[in-house]
This record gives sequence, C-alpha cells and structure tokens, in this order.
Amino acid sequence: MRNTPSTVHGPCRMKVKVWGNHEAMSVAAAGCIAREVLRCPRLLVCLATGSTPARTYELLGCRARQSPALFNHVRVLKLDEWAGLPMSDRGSSEAYLQQRVIRPWGVSQSSLVGFVSDAKQSKLECQRIQKWLARNGPIDLCVLGLGSNGHLGFNEPASTLCPVAHRALLAQQTRAHPMLSHTTVKPRYGLTLGMAEILQATQILLLVSGAHKRRALKRLLREEISTQFPASLLCLHPRTTLLCDREAAMQAPAQMT
Ligand code: GLP
Repeated sequence: MRNTPSTVHGPCRMKVKVWGNHEAMSVAAAGCIAREVLRCPRLLVCLATGSTPARTYELLGCRARQSPALFNHVRVLKLDEWAGLPMSDRGSSEAYLQQRVIRPWGVSQSSLVGFVSDAKQSKLECQRIQKWLARNGPIDLCVLGLGSNGHLGFNEPASTLCPVAHRALLAQQTRAHPMLSHTTVKPRYGLTLGMAEILQATQILLLVSGAHKRRALKRLLREEISTQFPASLLCLHPRTTLLCDREAAMQAPAQMT
C-alpha cells in the first residue's frame, strides 16, 4: 500500500493524486476538507452523495468529535437530489447528508441548503436554489463523485448541458444507483446544480474509487472535453484536484498507477 500518492499534472489543469486504496484516498480528502474549514470557518461546501465520499465524511465526523466547534459555521449545499422521492426516504440525498454530515459534523440545520426532493413545482425549486447560490456563492469547495457514465451531480451526458440548477432526466444507469436499491419506483428525474455553478467553485475535489469507475476515469484522463462526458469539463477549471485509488486508476496512463 502506498502512503504517499503519485501526483501527475496533465496538459489540462487538473492535479491527479493516486492513493493505494479507498481508505487512503478518504483520509487525504478529509484532510483537505478540514484544512479548508480551518482556513475559512464559514466555508460554503457543496457535497455529493454516493458511496465514494462516505468514508471521507465519516472521518470528518471523527474530527468533529475531537474538535466539536470545527464545523460550527460551515455552510453545506446539497449538490443534487432525487426528484419525487420523499425527503425522509433513506435513499434521498437529504437523508444521506443528515446522517453522514449534518449530525456527525454538528452543522446546524439552518446551515444546510438544498433542493427539496418532493417540491410540488421542481422548476420553482430549482430557481430558488439558483437564486440562493447567486446571492451566497460562489461555492468555496465542491466535493464531487464521478458517475460511471461521466455525470457530475445529475448533469448527464447530452449534446447540450444546462448551466444552472435544473431538473434533469436521469440516465438508465443512474436510476440503477445503489442509493435507490430499496425503492420500487425509481425516480426518473433528478434536481441538480448546473455545470456553470459547479465550475464557478473556487476549488473542486473530485473523488473516484473502485474498479467500476476505471473506464470513466480512463476517459476523463484522455482530456477530451465533451458535453457527452460532463466530468471532462473539469479540465477547464483552474483548481480541481482528482483524488482516486489504485483500483480506479488501473487502466489510466502508466505514469499514474
Ligand atoms: C449519484 C449521485 C452523484 C454521485 C454519483 C456517484 O448519481 N447523484 O452525486 O457523485 O452518483 O456515486 P457513487 O460514489 O456511489 O459511485
């Protein structure tokens, strides 16, 4: 196992760090988030859900137990949400963040901002988030996961992408996400921040882990920018760090593994 990552700078501006396994990657990600919070206690952090960042969030929960005031002033913005799923459903992004971030980090409920999954009018709900972000943004640190089809949040591969918060038709693959494994009715739509709102973040941390992400990571590292692979737009961002584990980086260019 590797204790220090291999670091590569490609022609695109993304910094790539390959860690020996998911645990090492999560320790590094948690360290990076904690450093930013110490530097800026009122940090606006946008958080993805899913299995990739779960351990990172758990490690930060441990830090909060040691320093209970650490996250007192942090503001958390939900990256995306399954449209139509009740907020209380255990598969919702809301439930995920409440359980893994808000309670263990000791963030106050009023400091969590995000889409209401079962809002009656999703268009108005997205406009509410657009306006909130325009007033309170930009995001200081955006923590992202990589969809195996290259999506970020619910910005799915398409010939055009919506720049701001919107309701998105989910790809078939996305509807099969393990967060929804218990539900009989799979949401057809997601509510998500748009690519411009993500790219306006001061700093982005992209986490990629596991053998099932190899193909997506390989494509990302090809550095061809296309709306058919939304994560490739991160190559245009000046401060994106990609943290991945060796499992995911297996098919990446040789110097990275
Ligand atoms: C879901 C979430 C994304 C997440 C992605 C990857 O679609 N909406 O925010 O980043 O899947 O999830 P995982 O980390 O479980 O692979």
